[in-house]
Amino acid sequence: HSRLATGGGVAAAPAAQAADVKHLDILFGTQTGNAETVAEEAAAMAKAKGFAPRVAEMDDVSMEQLATMQNLIVVVSTYGEGEMPDNAHQFWEALSATTAPRLENLSYGVLALGDTSYDEFCQAGKLVDTRLEQLGARRLGARVDCDVDFEDAAEAWIAATIPDAGSVSAAEPAADAAPKKEKSGWGRKNPYVSTMLDNHIVSGSKSAKEIRHIAFDLGDSGMTYEAGDALGVMPVNAPDLVQAWLDRLGAGADTDINGTALGDLLTTGREIMTPSRDLIRAIEPLAKNDELSHVVSNGDKEALEHYLWGKDALDLLNLNPNLALDPAEVMSWLKPLQHRAYSISSSPKAHPGEVHLTVAAVRWMYENRPHRGVCSTFLADHVPEGAQAGIFMSANKSFRVPEDDSVPMIMVGPGTGIAPFRAFLEERRERRASGANWLFFGDQHRASDFIYEDEISAFSASGLLTRLDLAFSRDQAEKVYVQHRMVENGKDLFAQLEEGGYFYVCGDATRMARDVDDALHQIVQTHGGVSADGAVEYVNGLKRDKRYVRDVY
Ligand code: 2AM
Repeated sequence: HSRLATGGGVAAAPAAQAADVKHLDILFGTQTGNAETVAEEAAAMAKAKGFAPRVAEMDDVSMEQLATMQNLIVVVSTYGEGEMPDNAHQFWEALSATTAPRLENLSYGVLALGDTSYDEFCQAGKLVDTRLEQLGARRLGARVDCDVDFEDAAEAWIAATIPDAGSVSAAEPAADAAPKKEKSGWGRKNPYVSTMLDNHIVSGSKSAKEIRHIAFDLGDSGMTYEAGDALGVMPVNAPDLVQAWLDRLGAGADTDINGTALGDLLTTGREIMTPSRDLIRAIEPLAKNDELSHVVSNGDKEALEHYLWGKDALDLLNLNPNLALDPAEVMSWLKPLQHRAYSISSSPKAHPGEVHLTVAAVRWMYENRPHRGVCSTFLADHVPEGAQAGIFMSANKSFRVPEDDSVPMIMVGPGTGIAPFRAFLEERRERRASGANWLFFGDQHRASDFIYEDEISAFSASGLLTRLDLAFSRDQAEKVYVQHRMVENGKDLFAQLEEGGYFYVCGDATRMARDVDDALHQIVQTHGGVSADGAVEYVNGLKRDKRYVRDVY
């Protein structure tokens, strides 16, 4: 049988509406789970205000369903350069099409999540907000655009925007309640202080990369996770970099900045590696540097990026070394230090009480000063025994091993992209799942970059890993990448999809994941015997069924 051109997965079909039940639909589009968390909070608030809330992913809702809705909250994050998150693409395609229905009966509000470090801040939310208005819907309240520090703004917006439902039937079905999220209490604002149990290099000494396996103790935190989730880590800036800042600012660590010591602010309070937009804007006229002034004044994003390549914020302050800087003013240019999220590389069933990461430590030299990725080197340079770091769980509910243990999993995870697939393989081993497991892995050189080789060999030997295809790009004259291995094995890959297989991708978003997506379409076209449009339909079907999911960055 063929699943070609299957229809839409309909998860959020509105139940027959009892006349006196006021529904509030809450749709979320998320890449990392933040929008989903906010959607659940909105559901709890809606319930308290007398609504029967219904929460769904944007892609699970058709335009026909949208046209029946009366009260709608959309929580959507923006991903990459102004893109919709993966589970909102199809919704947006339909909403932005000329065939989209009129929505005169709809009242709505949009809560946009984003990151002001990117040019297209909250673009996905802006697009949805504008389009809903164009289609005749009325706003319940003005859109809010939240930065990475979104919690307070989101909470205030939810409280202000969701109206009171008035009298609501007592016959409200319990199934409409917002899903109860098990909360351990640890989160971005109060991370659990965990002890590092392990920290060792898994890449070879000749590798161009420094990839580490890191383990944290969950101790008595009560934190739980599932294979596929991410771990939030609160970094601490390196002491030598903090000292270099203090030297440049000509101020001591105990200098008071609005009640906080400058040293503390630089160590745990501010992003001091990546130059913020405010810092670039402020320093440009003061730096008296022709090149910087040129790229800033002509507004060419790429030229600015090119100019900034390899430099950190301190390099910009050093452009004009004689310029006296006011520490408090400089601090106001910087963004708050943020957590970093890493795909977890362990299954909790295989490592109870622990959580593992696979992290590439990023280091480079610029003008004789070491430069480092903030959190990756914070983790790397911790000593294994006893070092502590603030951590919390970040759920990634769509990135999971299949519920059905018998269906095939196809995993594409070159480099550190292997992380969640180590977790998936452990998970399936612990579940004694019978389904086929196929891994595509690669990196530059087999001799130095085949991380977890022993474990992967053992997975193969035991029969857990039914198939392994490797792509080491620099071991031969021509480049070989994971997507080339996919295409070479396209017939079998397509057959596994037809058996109900799941297709997972983790790793580099800008090049690898895009090329893998192209290869997947090409395989479906060739082996499914369909047109290019047919392949798009088929792949969209996989996405709707949550059988094509990505964890890319
Ligand atoms: P290269 O650097 O030798 O070109 C991890 O960085 C691996 O991903 C490397 O082997 C790298 O190859 C490879 N890589 C680079 N661009 C890629 C792309 N567009 N698709 C897949 N893999 C890619």
